[in-house]
Amino acid sequence: MVVGSEVVAEKADAARSNLMADGLADYVDLRTGDARSTLADPGGPVDLLLLDGGPGLYLDILQLLIPCLRVGSVVVADNIEDSEDEPHPYARWVRDPANGFVSNSITLKGGTEYSVWVGKRDDD
Ligand SMILES: C[S@@+](CC[C@H](N)C(=O)[O-])C[C@H]1O[C@@H](n2cnc3c(N)ncnc32)[C@H](O)[C@@H]1O
Repeated sequence: MVVGSEVVAEKADAARSNLMADGLADYVDLRTGDARSTLADPGGPVDLLLLDGGPGLYLDILQLLIPCLRVGSVVVADNIEDSEDEPHPYARWVRDPANGFVSNSITLKGGTEYSVWVGKRDDD
């Protein structure tokens, strides 16, 4: 099951039409609104989280969903390009082992961060 969120209603409607046309609507729960609230309850564990809305939102959304990750769950964040002298702030956070991920950049255009949840939580 795929759960997604799109803040622009027209885009969400267009995506729903495409999913219907392709016979995929039963597999997708597409929510209209700001992902920081619409994804507060994804409805179950999250195996793969794709962040592709805007890098400024990624940490908020990731932290919202950490309680739903399983050990081994993967988080892919697009457009996370390190500057020459320091990592992107999102990358710095997920690469800090204290935050419970093993993480590295993969060499795709614009920078893509691939992170695996290894299960450490603040309340562990
Ligand atoms: C770079 S596009 C990527 C969309 C899709 N992943 C794709 O590859 O076609 C980013 C999308 O995120 C949406 N977006 C931006 N901020 C958002 C938010 N806070 N909550 C949900 N969607 C948001 C934008 O409206 C835009 O459609």
